Amino acid sequence: MNKKLVVMDHPLIQHKLTFLRDKNTGSKQFRELVSEIAMLMCYEATRDLPLKEVITETPMMKATTKVIAGRKLAFVPILRAGLGMVDGVLSLIPAAKVGHIGMYRDPETHQPVDYYCKLPSDLEQRDVIVLDPMLATGGSAIDAVDKIKKFNPRSIKFMCIIAAPEGVEAFTTAHPDVEVYCAGLDDKLNDHCYILPGLGDAGDRIFGTK
Ligand code: PRP
Ligand code: URA
Repeated sequence: MNKKLVVMDHPLIQHKLTFLRDKNTGSKQFRELVSEIAMLMCYEATRDLPLKEVITETPMMKATTKVIAGRKLAFVPILRAGLGMVDGVLSLIPAAKVGHIGMYRDPETHQPVDYYCKLPSDLEQRDVIVLDPMLATGGSAIDAVDKIKKFNPRSIKFMCIIAAPEGVEAFTTAHPDVEVYCAGLDDKLNDHCYILPGLGDAGDRIFGTK
């Protein structure tokens, strides 16, 4: 599989993913799990943030220590389901800005339909992490990143919880410069472009709309 794909196999993430997939998991627990998994994934996905040295006075002495080197981040959830990941990532990086891209898949064509876009005005100074639990055909993620690139951010990463091989192939072909992080790389899409084994419809399970 593509070099630009990172599958996060940490035991805590894999454990929580099992309960997320379970059809008997209700909306409240589903939301909590999406948020927790997003937080754990964000911890890994920000491993390359640059550090700088500062002098800190401990109760014992002065020491040379490290802080994040003023790197500015923006999270961009793809509505609706991406909203479920926002609290988790903000709990780690509360100073990040949050943009929103609204799109849904047409049920017949499976093509993304845009309905909203509001991004931080200083995106060219920011590293962007796009959030969406599901990468199925890749259409929504490809369109979202197309939009974001028009604002010239410093870098873009795409973070999903479950990816289909078809979506990874399409996305990394369209955006070879964007690294993809997922918790599970599943088998394939079904005839309705749902991921198998997947977890069903992420937006409906987060918001209880089915
Ligand atoms: C889901 C999901 C992704 C998209 C993935 O959203 O959250 O945005 O489908 O499919 P793709 O890779 O084939 O484009 P959906 O269209 O169901 O909208 P929702 O989040 O509002 O429920
Ligand atoms: N969107 C979802 O929510 N689930 C899928 O399996 C595919 C697209």
